[in-house]
Amino acid sequence: MLIFAIESSHDDTSFALLENNKPIWMKTMSQIEIHKKYGGTIPEIASRYHVKNIGILLEELKKQVDLSKIDIIAYSQFPGLIGSLQVGYIVANTLGLILNKPVMGLSHLEGHFFSAFIEKETVFPTLGLLVSGGHSQLMLYKSKDEIEILGETLDDAVGEVYDKIARKLELGFPGGPIIDELWSENKDKYQDHLTIPKTKNEFDFSFSGIKTQIINLINNQVNRKEKINKIKYACELQNTIVKYLEKQMKAAILKYKPKAICLVGGVSANKAIREMFLGLHENVYLPKLEYTTDNAMMIARLASEKNK
Ligand code: KG4
Ligand code: ZN
Repeated sequence: MLIFAIESSHDDTSFALLENNKPIWMKTMSQIEIHKKYGGTIPEIASRYHVKNIGILLEELKKQVDLSKIDIIAYSQFPGLIGSLQVGYIVANTLGLILNKPVMGLSHLEGHFFSAFIEKETVFPTLGLLVSGGHSQLMLYKSKDEIEILGETLDDAVGEVYDKIARKLELGFPGGPIIDELWSENKDKYQDHLTIPKTKNEFDFSFSGIKTQIINLINNQVNRKEKINKIKYACELQNTIVKYLEKQMKAAILKYKPKAICLVGGVSANKAIREMFLGLHENVYLPKLEYTTDNAMMIARLASEKNK
């Protein structure tokens, strides 16, 4: 079965072809360089670039495949930026009408979960941790259609904290990979972490407290006219996030006893979090780096699972 999928929920326009769980082709057009100068995504600009980029990708798609061979068309239906989602919705449905093929509108968040199972068979129950620039969620997949959201962030997403602290430290955007690199080079020197947050529901997350702790420390140094030790704050942020995610995962594994665990979303590219994850369970699924960030292959993989 040949599946064609579109992802356009945020600032990546992505097309993918997946045949019987084998990736055939994927092309993603990122807008990161455009939004970089604003320090975050500007929705109106994102929609306009989706319109431009999706035309380019449609031309490429036609060169890759005889469109009549496509069996199913899938697209990211929610959640996301409304103007961006609309572009994927219109293209998917128009192609569906022209080719007379079924169209599936799917959850972007569920798609992230299945990014860990591209070219792999699913295992249930699996405990999934989704950490990205927009979402932080702990989910228990009991079967392909039965998902329990055990907890989610009450404030900022993990990636958002990385980006905001990087901005405060004037390190650049997106902050996650920059801070991760600084941590890799200096982890032996700075091993401290900050206070780990607590929430009412034990599996929820709250990251704004970590962000505030660091911002206060930086502001105090600024007030005292001291030199800011950027590397120290970058390392301590990463140490704190790893400790916190580890604590939550251990508690959920103990309670739900999943057969496998997976780590997905943009932040799942993080070296320290990946390393910590591998020590948590005997059956750990991590997506390939190209599938950590928003991409259409994960939407195609989700469509293939839903069609089983
Ligand atoms: O899933 P994603 O590509 O986009 C959305 O959330 O829409 O995630 C992007 C986020 C950004 O906040 C970025 O800073 C973060 O993922 N990120 C990382 C790393 N690579 C990307 N965070 C920590 N460590 C990384 N290596
Ligand atoms: Zn995403």
